[in-house]
Amino acid sequence: MTGNETTERPFLQGIRGETPGKPPIWLMRQAGRYLPEYRELRTKAASFLDFCYTPEMAVEATLQPIRRYGLDAAILFSDILVIPDAMGQDVSFVEGKGPVLEPITRLEEIGSLKSHEDVTNYLAPVYTTVKTLRAELPAETALIGFAGAPWTIASYMLEGGGGHNFAQAKQFMWRESAAFQGLMDRLCEAIAHHLVEQVRAGADAVMLFDSWAGALPDLDFRRWSIGSTKLIIDRFRASCPDIPVIGFPRLAGQLYGEYRPGTGVDVMALDTSVPIEAMVGFQADGPVQGNLDPQALVAGGSVMKDYAERLVRKLSGGAHIFNLGHGVVPETPPDHVAELVDIVRQASAS
Ligand code: CP3
Repeated sequence: MTGNETTERPFLQGIRGETPGKPPIWLMRQAGRYLPEYRELRTKAASFLDFCYTPEMAVEATLQPIRRYGLDAAILFSDILVIPDAMGQDVSFVEGKGPVLEPITRLEEIGSLKSHEDVTNYLAPVYTTVKTLRAELPAETALIGFAGAPWTIASYMLEGGGGHNFAQAKQFMWRESAAFQGLMDRLCEAIAHHLVEQVRAGADAVMLFDSWAGALPDLDFRRWSIGSTKLIIDRFRASCPDIPVIGFPRLAGQLYGEYRPGTGVDVMALDTSVPIEAMVGFQADGPVQGNLDPQALVAGGSVMKDYAERLVRKLSGGAHIFNLGHGVVPETPPDHVAELVDIVRQASAS
């Protein structure tokens, strides 16, 4: 693959603002349980993490939505919690419950977490998946690598899972501030190296998921969402200066305005709560991605069509990547995704 061929990918052209009014489209969680072929493949893996670490399976899961819908970008099939797993924490995925981790409660446990070299060695199968994908994907399809942002990963490590009120994570953050700083330093280092390795293996862009950024009060958001993300991006850019970075500080509300200037992300991904006028405002300083309600994709019909066409129309003055405001949910009818891709491509052709 030469540099010239890479520049032809519509997703990358969209990020560079070369195709205003014609947004490339991909969807967060475009691979997963809403697809029958995913559910079938999933039965063949002993566990979700085994699935992520078996390149043949992860490659197949990544390609499934590309085959069906011809989306402009594929996202590596993996998870944000491979980092705590690779650091030596006990991580499992429980059917109907989600991720379960042995929570970190003591300073010494942070000291015994594995280094970034161990993390990237452990995650070698993930880079094999990326490499295989780049060879198997159509030339026009971009490949996105990703990682969780440190606060979001730390919240799972400290809470022992998701779906809580962040009491344990926040009390640890404030009461054990030196230990928390140590955990965040280790995470930043591991995440930056994990992203660089994905690019070395063939990723065209990377995304940082700060899914729980919106749980932080302003001062901590600035320090642990914006500050840590900037650290990662600075380290990442030292090795990969030309690779676009998408940042997603979900539910950041008014603080979204500080995120791109503060972190240096290229593309800002916006959740469903952000009004269209604010999206247009953020577009003035760079590409925006999002924010169709995943439930509008479940609803289909005129609800989906009207919201989707409105996004394309109102954001046609600048760089826009069409996406949802959060991941595709398992209840989504697969046909609605095909309809959405048609709607976006037709809206942008007119
Ligand atoms: O298609 C894709 O988006 C690529 C793969 C991907 C997965 N997870 C696969 C997955 C990506 C990019 C993620 C990111 C991820 N994982 C995030 C950030 C994005 C977000 O949704 O906010 C978070 C917070 C996680 C952690 C996680 N992984 C949770 C909370 C769960 C359980 C909830 C659920 O949907 O089941 C997972 C499991 C998971 N990750 C599944 C998939 C397809 C379902 C596992 C299964 O097949 O049973």
